[in-house]
Amino acid sequence: MALRVDQISKTFDSDDARRSTHQVFDQFTLDIADGEFVAVLGPSGCGKTTLLRMIAGFDRPDAGRVIFDGSDVTGPASDRVVVFQQPGLFPWMDVRHNVAFGLQLGRRRIDWRPVDEILATVGLSEFAGHAPYELSGGMQQRVALARSLVMRPKMLLMDEPFAALDAHLRHAMQVFLRELWVEFRTTVLFITHDVEEAIVLAERVVVLGSNPGRILGELDARDVHPSSADLLDNADYRRLRHRAIELLGELP
Ligand SMILES: Nc1ncnc2c1ncn2[C@@H]1O[C@H](COP(=O)(O)OP(=O)(O)OP(=O)(O)O)[C@@H](O)[C@H]1O
Ligand SMILES: [Mg+2]
Repeated sequence: MALRVDQISKTFDSDDARRSTHQVFDQFTLDIADGEFVAVLGPSGCGKTTLLRMIAGFDRPDAGRVIFDGSDVTGPASDRVVVFQQPGLFPWMDVRHNVAFGLQLGRRRIDWRPVDEILATVGLSEFAGHAPYELSGGMQQRVALARSLVMRPKMLLMDEPFAALDAHLRHAMQVFLRELWVEFRTTVLFITHDVEEAIVLAERVVVLGSNPGRILGELDARDVHPSSADLLDNADYRRLRHRAIELLGELP
């Protein structure tokens, strides 16, 4: 088991004046196997980002444990890297130095070989010397992915990484991410509130509900891929989509 989220609870103070609290999770449990690609699908505010932050080690649960690769998560580490909706590149560094950033920390010399390899993998070798602002949004997001992958993380934690992209680019990035996953078999937790995105990308879709965040159901989506021909003609896709919408309680 790569990741075990074991009976975690998390409460926030939602209103200081009225001293009310909001319980986002109450003894929530989720297991993710080594090399698995899991999407967490759920409505806004159900706790997806909170969950990801606790797995990343940015935040701690009030109770319960997050166990990664056999050890308790007590803080961020380079074996679990996060890719956010915004690429968050350093504007004063060129693409190559942005990608090298994590490798460089605490070292005097950078090994440029893995940096240049990963730039080739994401198709951006010829932009290595460019500044981030000279790249499109999709290219910037590929740089952000490269910056994460160059660390050879055991797990990628992705919080709606393609939400800011237009539909065409978003599809291209889905195909690309899926290809990367087939090649690297990194364990992926991908957060989205987009039903189609969850189904095409992941092998397993975990559907969350709110108040408190809980698993409403799971879908086996191994048979549908970003490159699957016309999704609307795809019976597997239609069945999974119907089930997801049913679980989310959004059927008309
Ligand atoms: N630092 C915080 N302080 C207080 N409340 C918080 C904090 N972080 C999250 N919350 C609350 O916890 C709940 C879950 O938030 P979270 O950001 O995890 O939702 P989400 O599922 O990621 O939503 P979205 O799809 O909109 O990104 C929300 O009600 C939010 O207001
Ligand atoms: Mg969120």
